[in-house]
Amino acid sequence: MEEPAVALVGAGQMGGALVRGWLAAIRRGGGLTLTVVEPNFDPALQRELEAAGALLNPAGGEVADVVVLAVKPQAFAEIAAGAKRFIGPQTLVLSVMAGVTIASISRTLETDRVVRAMPNTPGQIGHGVTAFVAAAACTGPDRDLAAQLLEPLGVVESIPNERLMDVVTAVSGSGPAYVFLLAEFLAAAAEAEGLDRDIAARLARQTVAGAGALMLETGESASNLRKQVTSPGGTTQAALDVLQAADGLGPVMRRAVSAAAQRSRELGRDAESQT
Ligand SMILES: NC(=O)c1ccc[n+]([C@@H]2O[C@H](COP(=O)([O-])OP(=O)(O)OC[C@H]3O[C@@H](n4cnc5c(N)ncnc54)[C@H](OP(=O)(O)O)[C@@H]3O)[C@@H](O)[C@H]2O)c1
Repeated sequence: MEEPAVALVGAGQMGGALVRGWLAAIRRGGGLTLTVVEPNFDPALQRELEAAGALLNPAGGEVADVVVLAVKPQAFAEIAAGAKRFIGPQTLVLSVMAGVTIASISRTLETDRVVRAMPNTPGQIGHGVTAFVAAAACTGPDRDLAAQLLEPLGVVESIPNERLMDVVTAVSGSGPAYVFLLAEFLAAAAEAEGLDRDIAARLARQTVAGAGALMLETGESASNLRKQVTSPGGTTQAALDVLQAADGLGPVMRRAVSAAAQRSRELGRDAESQT
């Protein structure tokens, strides 16, 4: 599609990150026609959108090629009627709403061309990972377009089956919280070993951030990078002996991810029973 007409509903954290990326693509010469519906625009974003000729909060609305839904899941029912004006038989609906199933979106918006995506918070700075799944009615070009529109959030991965969205939610959706917790526990351990609280927090924070950046920039696997800082009989090895023990981090992470996936399934069932 040369210049897809995109209607975005909800320009908060995620929608804002998406639309900022699309604006950058427009400035590089990429074609997109933009309509954005948002009750409380960030003023800077609003100015950028106006400068790019985007249509903001139109009273009416023309059918779009893609409608992107980036409101909170609980706002979906409220925005549905308004979003329908942008949807025609050829429109692709791309949702980043956590936990709202393809079936529920299809039923509510009366369309079967739906892509459901799960981003994560680093997407707000373009370093996220977003997994998406497309309904059976979507074409190859639909999937390509959805992937392209999600790129401003970072890496995009396609998954084959919507049931796996619960696992995606547990791994990459919730995953940033696990990493932040690691930084918190590392800081607490540093403090317990005698460091001042502030320096402990700074050392832990930068260690987690720096290790993530090293993984990204080198493209090396996590296990290779770990081996590079581990000399036999050394200090890192002493810590890893604890972390990799039978009752160490491995089984704890396995239980944590399993609990999150289970909760995602439960929330999905609750949401389905309410629609
Ligand atoms: N943030 C994440 O890391 C993350 C990760 C995975 C999935 N998601 C999903 O992404 C979606 C958006 O999350 P978010 O963090 O970006 O939330 P957010 O910052 O609250 O953004 C939602 C935006 O939609 C706006 N909105 C509310 N009612 C509207 C309406 N009737 N018409 C148009 N816009 C309306 C909100 O405006 P008001 O502020 O005025 O209400 C807000 O600006 C959610 O469904 C969430 O599940 C987010």
